Amino acid sequence: MKRTAIIVALLGLAGTAQAGNLSAWKLPPVPVPKDNPQNAAKIELGHRLLFDFRLSKNDSMNCASCHLPAAGGAGPTPRAFGHGGELGRWAPSWVNSGYSTSLFWDGRADSLEQQTGVFPGHLGPISAPGEMGGDVDSIAARLNAIPEYRKQFVKAFGSEATPTNIGRAIAAYERTLVATGSPFQRYVNGDDKAISPAAKRGFDLFQGKARCAFCHTPPLMTDNGFHNIGVPQVGPLKEDLGRYEVTKDAADKGKFKTPSLYNSASFAFFMHDGAFSNLKEVVDHYSRGGNPKDANQDPLMTRLDLSEKEKSDLIAFLKTLTDERLNRISAP
Ligand code: HEC
Ligand code: HEC
Repeated sequence: MKRTAIIVALLGLAGTAQAGNLSAWKLPPVPVPKDNPQNAAKIELGHRLLFDFRLSKNDSMNCASCHLPAAGGAGPTPRAFGHGGELGRWAPSWVNSGYSTSLFWDGRADSLEQQTGVFPGHLGPISAPGEMGGDVDSIAARLNAIPEYRKQFVKAFGSEATPTNIGRAIAAYERTLVATGSPFQRYVNGDDKAISPAAKRGFDLFQGKARCAFCHTPPLMTDNGFHNIGVPQVGPLKEDLGRYEVTKDAADKGKFKTPSLYNSASFAFFMHDGAFSNLKEVVDHYSRGGNPKDANQDPLMTRLDLSEKEKSDLIAFLKTLTDERLNRISAP
């Protein structure tokens, strides 16, 4: 009798722990900066700008050229191509980027607004000569010359297009690209059937034996931190020092931002330099402990020796993070 009572109590505990774990992964509301409140007109304008070729030199590209919606909002080539030819890094997804406390693989931008590259002294995709190569003042002037655009800016900001407003509108739209419709989010919000038994086993591995949740932490599935996980260097750069480029702290060599993993099952490539091209390669990398020969590798990376079944369960879990709606965004 006593023994049954203990088992029942333990099961009860396990039950609460499980429920507690689940709600810990609910995506919170996206934080919005005080100087750029959301409004419907602004979001609609940002949506339009994201797909507008006028933001680039010679109308050659838009944001979606390098962040392909159907590829989870990430790069269609292992390294992005801009006006400067092949860049050193792969374009990460903009899905859930509204939660990031620092942007870019090395965290060199403090906000989505700053990331776009419209502020003086901050290069970003619009202004970087090697990317869209645009001139922000002439872009603003050109948009104001289009009555429909000018009207949209006035509706959103109470004033005509300025470089700052262009950045703010784009950021406002990006803050809506949140994977709340993913099966995993439906699961953590109480729909037990939203994910398969294999995915549930994968989720247990993710939080347990496979150690993923040490860095891909709740609730965002990222600690918004930087780690060196021993990704092989590929592409045109001889060496990418990552976070070190920003901090100049030797301990940061080879560290890159922990990505959120949402929609990653739709990516064509993975990691800062696009070194891997499917989730199996990613999971194999973790299973072998990354690159133990890299003296700077994070001590959290250890050999996991996952079985083939465990690997496929983990991948089944990662697939539940995709919000299909975000793979279908297109020009308004
Ligand atoms: C030429 C290709 C290219 C174009 C065009 C481009 N991007 Fe990017 N984007 C990249 C690359 C490459 C990175 C990563 C660069 C790095 O980390 O140094 C990136 C990073 C980002 C990030 C950071 C995500 C994160 O989690 O840190 C956001 C957000 C983003 N881009 C949005 C945009 C927007 C908005 C536009 C249009 C105004 C745009 N991009 C146009 C290639 C491009
Ligand atoms: C020590 C921290 C850490 C641990 C542990 C960890 N990750 Fe990561 N993860 C990262 C960082 C940092 C990156 C980006 C590294 C880079 O680009 O060089 C990353 C990248 C990824 C990517 C590629 C996503 C993208 O946008 O390119 C996937 C998928 C991934 N991790 C899944 C996992 C899984 C599954 C596990 C457990 C088996 C795991 N991670 C364990 C920190 C970690």
